[in-house]
Amino acid sequence: MSATAAATTLWRNARLVTLADAPGWGLIERGALRVRGDRIVWVGPEANLPADAPIAAEHDLGGALVTPGLIDCHTHLVYGGQRASEFELRLQGASYEDIARAGGGIRSTVAATRAADDDTLFASARARALALMSEGVTTIEIKSGYGLSRDDEARCLRAARRLGQALPLTVRTTSLAAHALPPEFEGRADDYIDAVVQWMDGWHAAGLVDAVDVFCERIGFTRAQTQRVFDAARRLQLPVKLHAEQLSDMDGAALAARYGALSCDHLEHLSAAGVQAMAQAGTVAVLLPGAFYFLRESKLPPISGLREAGVPMAVATDHNPGSSPGLSLILMLHMACTLFRLTPEEALRGVTAHAARALGLQASHGTLQAGKQADFVVWDLEHPNELAYWFGRNPCRRVVRAGMER
Ligand code: NIG
Ligand code: FE
Repeated sequence: MSATAAATTLWRNARLVTLADAPGWGLIERGALRVRGDRIVWVGPEANLPADAPIAAEHDLGGALVTPGLIDCHTHLVYGGQRASEFELRLQGASYEDIARAGGGIRSTVAATRAADDDTLFASARARALALMSEGVTTIEIKSGYGLSRDDEARCLRAARRLGQALPLTVRTTSLAAHALPPEFEGRADDYIDAVVQWMDGWHAAGLVDAVDVFCERIGFTRAQTQRVFDAARRLQLPVKLHAEQLSDMDGAALAARYGALSCDHLEHLSAAGVQAMAQAGTVAVLLPGAFYFLRESKLPPISGLREAGVPMAVATDHNPGSSPGLSLILMLHMACTLFRLTPEEALRGVTAHAARALGLQASHGTLQAGKQADFVVWDLEHPNELAYWFGRNPCRRVVRAGMER
């Protein structure tokens, strides 16, 4: 039978975790999803299925658990080389900041990234994206930030865009040119910010940028410099995000909130005033337990303060070669519970509904609801709390992204 324009695919006999209304899992037993093109057109108990539209194909899921596709809303996936030797230095007692100040850290990845050709950058990022996808990730954010010149930043953003074209994966790009000071601007941080502000017009005009981020930190950029990058983003009508209060309290979250930031990320040193500013602006708190773990941080982000203030919390891998070389979003979901004491429901929302919001995609992604993109995962699990419980196991059985099985 040839599919007509109105024909739908039916996914039935599923235990649906819709996450439609917070709080709660939004569980629907013996649920069904109808998909037309790349959209969900109907969700509900199978018994209530309307009988009007023709069905082109039907899949009986045998009672399996189905959640929205997972969203990794903070990654630095495109880079050259790796930093295992820096990990060894840290095992011998050097700190992340010591290594950065000595010219290692981000700068060593910048050198490796500049030395890598476009196809090498693409191939290594593609392999990493495939690893994330194997666990049910259907959307990722990818930051630049290891090129740190006009052309090298553009190359990294282009590699990210190319991933979104080559793979069944939604990719959102973020310019993080203000990640570290490149060696040719040593001692001239303000000049570098001038250059970034100028280059941004070209990256934006080439369609390479969906959002703008800054590393606001003692070893990154000051609040004043952050503000100049944000002003440039505002002129281009690009949303902003911030690497905020990771290693110290720079009062960056409140600054980002004043710019209506989509998210502030890391946040171990976030103050009560920062929490309030984020709550008022509707800014998402992106928690990154992988970096917390790998850098052996001891100061926890203020989870109960964020929860009480109603700040939506997302969870992401922060995949990068220096502070979080992990490629398992499910492990991050688990660690958000063990290390940060999120509930399993908060952690799942953190990699779906709230992650969508951190990318400005809440109208189209993150829950199983009619009108949203048909991105969902079929799991070898009985209850959604098991996603937080198992670790080192991949229970992903099938993935549908934009209506197509991968
Ligand atoms: O998100 N905080 C800054 N950026 C990365 C680490 C980058 C690196 O060490 O290469 C992060 O943790
Ligand atoms: Fe990061």
